[in-house]
Amino acid sequence: AAYETILVETRGAVGLVTLNRPKALNALNARLIGELGDAIQAFEADEAIGAVVIAGGEKAFAAGADITEMASKSFTDVYFADLGGAWGRLVACRKPRIAAVSGYALGGGAELAQMCDVVIASETAKFGQPEITLGIIPGFGGTQRLTRAIGKAKAMDLILTGRMMDAEEAERSGLVSRVVPGDRLLDEALSAAAKIASFSRAAVLAAKEAVEVAHETGLSEGVRFERRAFQALFATEDQKEGMVAFVEKRKPAFRNR
Ligand code: HXC
Repeated sequence: AAYETILVETRGAVGLVTLNRPKALNALNARLIGELGDAIQAFEADEAIGAVVIAGGEKAFAAGADITEMASKSFTDVYFADLGGAWGRLVACRKPRIAAVSGYALGGGAELAQMCDVVIASETAKFGQPEITLGIIPGFGGTQRLTRAIGKAKAMDLILTGRMMDAEEAERSGLVSRVVPGDRLLDEALSAAAKIASFSRAAVLAAKEAVEVAHETGLSEGVRFERRAFQALFATEDQKEGMVAFVEKRKPAFRNR
């Protein structure tokens, strides 16, 4: 596919999408959101891919939804365009997504990071929900995912004041998985993704799904889900291979069976 706003490549079993509207600090316009959805959907369908990395530029991961595109829209424009729903294909991807965040991750850009399973940030990363300063509120899930990630007190602070938090505060708060030096960011994200992709695909998908259930249900329901998913993995050849390899003191060769 010919993409205009993103760069797409594969590194072994890892799919890499780089947001590529540097002049607009990777502002997320409708075209970019659509292309990102297409690329993620293609990686989801590609059996050779086990995990995906979403990266931006050095100055900005993404500075939010494209304000110039939104500025003149009416209620019905926004209602029928359903930009939020356009993220459905990304969120539906069962393979793990790792965000590699350098510089600004604001508004929709912060929300894109929140839609990823692992967030690796460079020391320069800045997260914020400045929508309030524009007369709107987060619209790609920020009021919900940010609150679940960092709790009500901090989410209210960020969403109501529009202030930014740096990488260190974001990690301390639970939004960011790891902070790394800027020159290590992409390598760290790619190697985490390669590590994930090297494991049994069924186990990886089940692990991700079970953690997601923790976000959406109560404890006893979640524990019941985990138990069934755990038990089901004993139907895979990869479970036998993983455990036999441990006993035989060798590296497992998972075959996604
Ligand atoms: C469109 C944007 C943009 C955006 C930056 N640009 N952010 N264009 N939409 N979200 C453009 C600028 O207009 C400028 O274009 C170029 O990128 C460089 O940006 P500067 O502002 O000149 O850079 P700098 O002074 O370094 O400031 C960086 C910044 C600032 C602090 C990140 O750009 C900024 O505040 N951006 C807006 C952040 C924001 O409010 N995001 C939330 C959007 S609402 P030119 O042509 O002048 O060079 C949102 C809602 C999501 O995300 C839900 C919707 C359903």
